[in-house]
Amino acid sequence: MTPLEGKIHYGYCLLTYIHLSIVSIIVIGILILLLFGNVIGNIIMGFGIYTFLNYWVMILYLLRKREPYNLSSEIMTSMAKPGKVIIRPARPQDAPVGARLMFYAGVNYMRAFFGSTERQAITVLRRMFSLPGHMTSYTYAFVVEDGIDIVALFSGLNRRSLRASNRASWMYGPVWWIAAPIWQIPKMISAYYEFDKAVPPVLDEEYYILHLAVLPEKRGQGIGGQLMVFAENMAKSKGLKRMLLDVEIENEGARRFYKRLGFREAKFVTDKSYCKRFGIKGSIRMVKSIAIQKKNTNL
Ligand SMILES: CC(C)(COP(=O)(O)OP(=O)(O)OC[C@H]1O[C@@H](n2cnc3c(N)ncnc32)[C@H](O)[C@@H]1OP(=O)(O)O)[C@@H](O)C(=O)NCCC(=O)NCCS
Repeated sequence: MTPLEGKIHYGYCLLTYIHLSIVSIIVIGILILLLFGNVIGNIIMGFGIYTFLNYWVMILYLLRKREPYNLSSEIMTSMAKPGKVIIRPARPQDAPVGARLMFYAGVNYMRAFFGSTERQAITVLRRMFSLPGHMTSYTYAFVVEDGIDIVALFSGLNRRSLRASNRASWMYGPVWWIAAPIWQIPKMISAYYEFDKAVPPVLDEEYYILHLAVLPEKRGQGIGGQLMVFAENMAKSKGLKRMLLDVEIENEGARRFYKRLGFREAKFVTDKSYCKRFGIKGSIRMVKSIAIQKKNTNL
């Protein structure tokens, strides 16, 4: 068996195991209901059926043939120019470094969402990275390749993909406990609500940079700048008018970096409960208007 076949085999075993566990919960619920006829049987059976439906929705979602980014030849050519870094859509196999980069992109946020220590948070992110469609997945990420590994990453979403990624996160529902410790899940949900409530929304004509990071040893070499230019071209080719992102108030290096690229600081978010949840002084919504190009419907 090759390593890939081994992984697939392991994956199928895991899915079968989850499936059988869910079916067992339903059977136990039915048995309790038949034997004792009490409410506990109803609750267990209801939970089992809910989990069962979620599980199959997720499997069907994973099996859907999806090609989130069909890069135009214009963008592919700009990626191949000499002196420029190689940028490509992220893949599930990028998870080890991809997860680290997502962590660096928002250390305080990632700790609140995925685990109080760097190690815990990166472990959870690494498992989640290879599942498609949700916010910290490879699906909406682009990476910079350097030899055999990746050294930088950004995730960019428009309003539609942001909504789709939210839906995907909920759809995974009961299987998150495989990726994250069970006690972390309520924290993830409340952090998600806090973030969603506090930061300004993303509108139809906007492209939102959710994560951006370069490995520490590769910073200051122009890689981050090239990624942002790439992201801007991406947004333009989708016919969008503005680029957006949220940066921590205290991340002065990144604020300088974005300002140099033409972003302005549009709104300070300093809600008490938001700052407390993420252990920050607040964040800033930064915005950049971008020239309008003819819409490319291929993207
Ligand atoms: C911000 C970041 C993506 C910039 O990428 P980069 O490849 O270093 O950027 P470039 O080489 O194109 O430009 C360097 C600029 O980045 C800024 N910068 C911010 N943090 C930096 C760091 N740790 N090292 C070097 N430059 C940094 C500086 O302002 C620098 O500008 P200067 O030359 O005027 O001093 C990168 O530093 C990074 O990954 N930081 C940690 C993650 C982060 O803060 N992400 C943003 C979250 S919103």
